[in-house]
Amino acid sequence: MIVAIDGPTASGKGTIARAVAAHYGLPHLDTGLLYRAVGRQVFLSGGNPDDPEQALAAADFSESLLEDPALRSEETGALASRVSIHPTVRAALLARQQAFARQPGGAVLDGRDIATVIAPEAEAKLFVTASVAARALRRWAEMRGRGEDVTREAIEADLAARDERDRTRAAAPLRQAEGAALLDTSALPIEAAIAAAIALVEKQRKA
Ligand code: C5P
Repeated sequence: MIVAIDGPTASGKGTIARAVAAHYGLPHLDTGLLYRAVGRQVFLSGGNPDDPEQALAAADFSESLLEDPALRSEETGALASRVSIHPTVRAALLARQQAFARQPGGAVLDGRDIATVIAPEAEAKLFVTASVAARALRRWAEMRGRGEDVTREAIEADLAARDERDRTRAAAPLRQAEGAALLDTSALPIEAAIAAAIALVEKQRKA
């Protein structure tokens, strides 16, 4: 079974995807990490993330970069959002994601375009979302927990800018795919969101 999970930053989709994968014993790919690696590589090479050729060159990052803790930072997230606009960068990462999705037994993938582009054939599709305020609050608590000094307003502004870029780009914009079940996690504790996600997957696979 392929499970496609899409949604905006800090919607809870990553945690939900990991839990769904563990529940079904399926391998999981966080596709955002691939775009983050491109963003990080462009930064390390001193390139310009808005330049399609320089961003594409960074798509040839080394595998060890995927282990770099700096990939998780807000700065890298913002760079990822900028390099992911370029269709050539998306094309360079396509085969790897599709091969992962189509491995024998299936897989869980989370990102922005899994159900729309990478694996429209997925048996289960979820679109996980939450209000900007709820997402900013979570991200803020997470960052404060790591000792980072940030304001909620700054995070909210960054999330809103990233959402806007992801939703309005021409290449594979973030949107709820046809047939994808909507899961709004704004008011849900994570355990309840995971239980709701598994119930939605069960409903779709039996349909
Ligand atoms: O999910 P995450 O925050 O790690 O993704 C970082 C950025 O990578 C997103 O803002 C988005 O622009 C891009 N991305 C994408 N397609 C995906 C996954 C991530 O364009 N499948």
